[in-house]
Amino acid sequence: MRVGVLASGDGSNLQAILDTVQGRGGVDVVAVGSDKPEARALRRAAAAGVPARVFELAGFPGRAARDAAMAGWLEEREVELVVLAGYMQLLVPAFLARFPHRVINVHPTLLPAFPGIGSVEQAIAYGVKVAGVTVHFVDEGVDTGAIIAQKAIPVPEGADAAALREALRPLEHELLPAVVAAIARGAVAVDPGDPRHVRVT
Ligand code: GRF
Repeated sequence: MRVGVLASGDGSNLQAILDTVQGRGGVDVVAVGSDKPEARALRRAAAAGVPARVFELAGFPGRAARDAAMAGWLEEREVELVVLAGYMQLLVPAFLARFPHRVINVHPTLLPAFPGIGSVEQAIAYGVKVAGVTVHFVDEGVDTGAIIAQKAIPVPEGADAAALREALRPLEHELLPAVVAAIARGAVAVDPGDPRHVRVT
């Protein structure tokens, strides 16, 4: 399964995929795209020999044109699954229509709690006792797509947002590659009668 990863920042989730599932079980990361030329994810891709490209909004008339170019590049690379790994932009519906049920995202809360940005800060401010991470399909909403997998931990006593983010990082690094591998082996199925329900076998 040919995988494209989109990332805006550090790319530690990209690295986890490259380190743990790349080249195994049919997973082949063949493209890394970013909206940020300075994203470390691009350097991680280069170091792994994966073609990488920047799609900066400033280089296009608008988001629709940027996302169309990005979708075109991913299609050229024959990408079958698009993984958002810290990609901090919304994708236009026309992009998603080109990869139906083929775009997934990792989010650092137990959705549907605390979608969007600043989510770990919101969870801490709310006083949650259990925290976790979610991998879900991407739809047109903000972190509203069907949930594929979640993993939870107790919030360490007295943890601030930075400490909780650190505690959640290993969960993301385990869950996201595991879901990519599961999709590659055909173990993830959306219930056609109830597309909110995703079966992972
Ligand atoms: C992760 O916490 C992810 O949940 C969120 O952005 C962060 C990306 O981290 N969407 P990295 O760039 O993969 O290190």
